[in-house]
This record gives sequence, C-alpha cells and structure tokens, in this order.
Amino acid sequence: MSFQTELDSFDVPEAKAQVEARSLSIYYRGKKLAVSDVNVAFPRKTVTALIGPSGAGKSTLLRALNRIHELADGASVEGGVLLDGTDIYGPGADPVLVRQRIGMVFQQATPFPTMSILDNVTAGLRLRGALGNGLKPIEIAEKALRQAALWGEVKDVLQRNGGSLSGGQQQRLCIARALAVEPEVLLLDEATSALDPISTLQIEELIRQLVEEYTIIAVTHNMQQAARVSDFTAFLLGDEHGVGRLIELAPTNTIFTKPADKRTEDYITGRFG
Ligand SMILES: Nc1ncnc2c1ncn2[C@@H]1O[C@H](COP(=O)(O)OP(=O)(O)OP(=O)(O)O)[C@@H](O)[C@H]1O
Ligand SMILES: [Mg+2]
Repeated sequence: MSFQTELDSFDVPEAKAQVEARSLSIYYRGKKLAVSDVNVAFPRKTVTALIGPSGAGKSTLLRALNRIHELADGASVEGGVLLDGTDIYGPGADPVLVRQRIGMVFQQATPFPTMSILDNVTAGLRLRGALGNGLKPIEIAEKALRQAALWGEVKDVLQRNGGSLSGGQQQRLCIARALAVEPEVLLLDEATSALDPISTLQIEELIRQLVEEYTIIAVTHNMQQAARVSDFTAFLLGDEHGVGRLIELAPTNTIFTKPADKRTEDYITGRFG
C-alpha cells in the first residue's frame, strides 16, 4: 500500500489504515471532474484534518468516502475506497451498510427543527428499521447523547424540539444522530464553522474523546483547530483547471512546521486561500 509522502516514514503499520482511497477520482454531472486521483490512507482511531481553500473538493472527497456522493444526480467515481481492506465500491458492497459504517455530519448540518430531541437522535435508526431489535429508543439515544457530550444538557427536555437548542447544542445533536447508528468511521464537515469559541472548544474536546473509539476525518477551515485536534493533516488544492488534488498528507506537526510542498506552506501561512 502506498501512503502519501511523510506517512511512509512515519511508520504507520499497514493494518492500521482503516479507510484508504486508491486512485479515487470524483465526478459531478456531465463527467465534470471535481477531485482527481487521490491516494490516501486514514489510520484507525486517529483524527485526520482535511484542509484547503473553498472549492478544493474537501466536501466532495468526504462524501465519496461513504458513497453519499453518488446520490447527487449524475455523480460518479472512479478508483476505490477500502474500508478495512474491502472496496466499498466493489461488487456486492451495500451502500446503505457503507453509510452506516462510515457516518457523516454534513457541512451546515441541522437537526429536524420540529422533531423532538429524542426522535432526532434515533432518526437514522428508524430509517434503517433498526428499532425492532429490542433496543429501546431512549437507551440508544442516551448512549449517543452521552458520547456527544450533550446528555447532561438535554436529559430533562428530550421531548423538546431539536430547533429549540443553541447552535452548539444542535451541532452536538447532529453528532449524536450520526453516532446512534454505531458507525466505525466518522466524517465531520466543518463541524464548528458556525459556533462561538466555547462551543468550538467543546466540539474539539469531543473529537479528542471520540477518537478513542472512532476513526475521524474532519474538514476544517480553522488552522488552529486542525493543529489542536488532528493527528494527521491532508491538504487539498484545486489545480489550474479547478480540479481538486491532494497535495500532501503528513503528521499534523510536520504539516505546520515543515510541509513538503511549497503550496502547503503558502496556504497555512495565509498567502492564499
Ligand atoms: N452538487 C454539485 N454539482 C456540481 N458540482 C459540484 C457540486 N458540489 C460541488 N461541486 C463542485 O465541486 C468542486 C468542489 O466543491 P466542494 O464543495 O467539494 O469544495 P469544498 O472544498 O468543500 O469547499 P468549501 O470549503 O467552500 O466547503 C467545486 O468546483 C464545486 O463547484
Ligand atoms: Mg465543503
């Protein structure tokens, strides 16, 4: 398996890569190439920050990692994505199961505003018809809300509307909703972009707790956040045709102190993007 650049010398054992993109190219309708030829490995139980300018293809890459991308009209991918060594795009792979194993919190995720907090958490389970397995919704919800560090704030108001929570609480509710289906990998797309500094720090602490159990890939525009929460950082950049490319992936400390590529250095020092 080929890790990008620094990861080779970082001694990440092969078996630890939980998610791996191989020659992954991602297209929108009309065969418009958005992200080209990404080769990248995400080690198990680590946080990888995905950084890069607006339009570089960060969200597109994230959505291709759990087969949500293909739900867009005319969208397609080439190449593969291995989850524990098995191609999620291979014949026989079940996209519904893939999306359960690789959960996602979307950019601008919001709870269903008029649905109760409790029902918001278990919404994904109901869609999967998984509530007939003897597990009570309240038990599943409590576990997920505890994991999302929201339980203490909502345990007495579970029947209130999701829309009645603060922005930071809503964000954690969306994380709880993603965790309730018990994924193995969690994709977070700008989980804190709309939050104040205190809520942001809460989510960052939460990410550090969740990584004990999950492999996390988190898009962020916030360099300090990438530095604070991630073990690895991947830099994406659009080329002269606007096609997103992975420039490098390395331990976060390396990216921020001695990036291999001049374009990475220019970006993190604010010279463009
Ligand atoms: N549904 C879509 N149909 C067609 N093109 C799309 C679609 N979504 C995104 N794109 C295009 O794909 C490219 C990458 O977009 P993407 O949203 O992945 O960027 P991003 O890095 O997440 O940007 P931002 O930081 O602004 O969220 C852009 O050129 C965008 O216009
Ligand atoms: Mg985006």
